[in-house]
Amino acid sequence: MPKKIRLGILGGGGDSLIGVLHRVASFINDNYEIVGAVFNPDLDQSINFAKEIDVPTNRIYKDFETLVEEELKLPEDERIQVCSILTPNFLHFPMAKKLLENGFHVICEKPMTTTYEEAKILQDTLEKAGTVFAVTHTYTGYPMVRQMREMIKAGALGKIHKVDARYYQGWINTIIHDKEKRSSVWRLDPKKAGISSCMGDIGVHAFNMIEFTTGLKIKSLLCDFNYLYDDNQMDVDGTVLIRMDKHVKGVIRGSQVATGEENGLAIAIYGEKGAFRWEQEKPNFLYKMSDTEPVQIYKPGHAYNSELSLDGTKLPPGHPEGIFDAMANIYLGAARAIRGEKYNDGEFPTMLDGVRGLNFIESTVASHKQGNVWVDMD
Ligand SMILES: NC(=O)c1ccc[n+]([C@@H]2O[C@H](COP(=O)([O-])OP(=O)(O)OC[C@H]3O[C@@H](n4cnc5c(N)ncnc54)[C@H](O)[C@@H]3O)[C@@H](O)[C@H]2O)c1
Repeated sequence: MPKKIRLGILGGGGDSLIGVLHRVASFINDNYEIVGAVFNPDLDQSINFAKEIDVPTNRIYKDFETLVEEELKLPEDERIQVCSILTPNFLHFPMAKKLLENGFHVICEKPMTTTYEEAKILQDTLEKAGTVFAVTHTYTGYPMVRQMREMIKAGALGKIHKVDARYYQGWINTIIHDKEKRSSVWRLDPKKAGISSCMGDIGVHAFNMIEFTTGLKIKSLLCDFNYLYDDNQMDVDGTVLIRMDKHVKGVIRGSQVATGEENGLAIAIYGEKGAFRWEQEKPNFLYKMSDTEPVQIYKPGHAYNSELSLDGTKLPPGHPEGIFDAMANIYLGAARAIRGEKYNDGEFPTMLDGVRGLNFIESTVASHKQGNVWVDMD
């Protein structure tokens, strides 16, 4: 086993939602070691958290600018190689840009930036830097999502007719009706989240799942948002009609006020020869349907799965793996790329996925604001 990759973390403190997922994922395949961080904007809080999780405190910095400055003073074989960006959305762009400009690899949470323009600037910056950039669309790391992609690529569904991706959560229902609570959540603050809440936070995962599994690009869309209150600037629910080409159409349904829903991401893809259905809350079951045969259920770890799917399974069939493992698969792909090893297309979402995501988010907002009209994506 080569030496572990030296990982820095920005955000993801003890008070965060996603920090633990990245930390555990980075450890799962024994590829990374956390050597430095800015876990929180408050230095004492960052240091206390580092002590709690047993990360040495000598490379806990007060902010990301200092992290870059100080790390560059270290010999290359001690310096952080890759940073994971796990902060609220508005910080992704300045952090990622500075890291890339200084030769670091980056693993970035979605949405990659808060505007399409920033995303394109970051794309140029990456081209000049030539480092590795992964965007953590976590759900692409599930073995059964990978299996769906590989089978569709091999023609299992024939010509695709219809796609339907739904991402329903309910947690904003407990917040949105109280003005004070509403103002305390960064996801509902355009200065921190960007121009969209529902589509920016979760709709973009559904969008990415469609392009990842079908290999097709969405060409145009028509979006209808619900803000629930006139004085709320951020969408908390939306329905998007999509056209991928003349005869491939579909819908993306997103909601953060679908009361009682937890993390209800589901995707269905219907084609001439058959269809797939997969749900995030039951990730180890991939349903294949057809007009002529009983429903088939594909499960992870069996030899009948594709190489890309099997690469994402660590234990024999019947040992359920979940969200931590899906994220670990993305970290594994990024580790191979950082080490210059061979890796397969689809092992981790790239800058291109990040750019497409911002193109999607801005197109949904434009469509809604212009009166629910069709908008072309680039
Ligand atoms: N891939 C996924 O499935 C998934 C799931 C949840 C969240 N996310 C994304 O992860 C990011 C973080 O979301 P979250 O829910 O964990 O948010 P959160 O509010 O729970 O945590 C954010 C963390 O960033 C820290 N932070 C804030 N400002 C900082 C700064 N200037 N420097 C360093 N740290 C700072 C906070 O102290 C906190 O620890 C968001 O971009 C979100 O969209 C992705």
